[in-house]
Amino acid sequence: MNLDELIAQAEQAFGAAADAASLENEKAKFLGKTGALTELLKDLGKLPPEEKREQGGKINGAKDRIEALLNARRQALADAQMNARLNAEAIDVSLPGRGRSRGGIHPVMRSWQRVEEIFRSIGFDVADGPEIETDWNNFTALNNPLNHPARSMQDTFYVEDKDSDGLPLLLRTHTSPMQVRYARHHVKHGQPPIKVIAPGRTYRVDSDATHSPMFHQVEGLWIAEDISFADLKGVYTDFLKRFFETDNLQVRFRPSFFPFTEPSAEIDMAFTSGPMKGRWLEISGSGQVHPTVVRNYGLDPEKYIGFAFGSGLERLTMLRYGISDLRLFYEGDLRFLKQFN
Ligand code: DAH
Repeated sequence: MNLDELIAQAEQAFGAAADAASLENEKAKFLGKTGALTELLKDLGKLPPEEKREQGGKINGAKDRIEALLNARRQALADAQMNARLNAEAIDVSLPGRGRSRGGIHPVMRSWQRVEEIFRSIGFDVADGPEIETDWNNFTALNNPLNHPARSMQDTFYVEDKDSDGLPLLLRTHTSPMQVRYARHHVKHGQPPIKVIAPGRTYRVDSDATHSPMFHQVEGLWIAEDISFADLKGVYTDFLKRFFETDNLQVRFRPSFFPFTEPSAEIDMAFTSGPMKGRWLEISGSGQVHPTVVRNYGLDPEKYIGFAFGSGLERLTMLRYGISDLRLFYEGDLRFLKQFN
């Protein structure tokens, strides 16, 4: 057997092996227990000592060569596999990173927080109540009985379930029912003063640039023996100065009607920035609480008196940032929202 030929055969066979497994099969044919070289070495024993040494040396030389060829091919296959993996798993360094970006507080929620902070600082409690209300709490207790024309200003969404008066439950049209809930609860546990705000979600069948079917209000109520309309003006004006962080505001109390207050006023404020600059926006209803409502709290209207207000949190936010369309608050457009964080 010509050893050079054997080496050439091995080189060819190894080169043709396409992967590690077939390479190891080829290796067996040359170097394995029954491989060609092993057979040659077994035959050595039959030779005379002189020839044995010479042939043995040559065979071992061929074995070294074949092992070297095998190792080279192993390395080449491993390199090729690694390169293929590297190509397949390549990272596109031009892609934007996948890091988590930081969220932010919604501008209306920020207003909500600021309103709570300001009123807490002057001794108001903060209360929370249900968004599904009874007809009595939402309307009747607030001196707005069934079939009263003022109800048509607040059309809302009804729930199929009925309350204990047999009337359909409804999504509250304002936070004013919280006056009744809080005051009645308070009166059970003690006497006035009642001094509370109640921020929350409210609902109406309404949708345009300044109205949304779901919106936020904050109710305020201060009842004691000597709280007047003058206190309303003082407290509310001071609140606005702190909320807008300036004394330089254009605010007006405009006579109005609400069934639950007498006298009643709407509070308007002028935009100081943005596309609506100089235009007035209504931000709140307010007034001195009507005696019938005080009675519905469970209190004697001859003894107790006070004021209430209900302000739109979206409206306050629009004025604060000069935003002309309230629907922007609900579209979830990050280009809009990012400006506030
Ligand atoms: N609840 C009224 C509304 O949503 C606003 C309002 C007016 C609230 C006068 C009050 C108030 O507490 O005294 O239109």
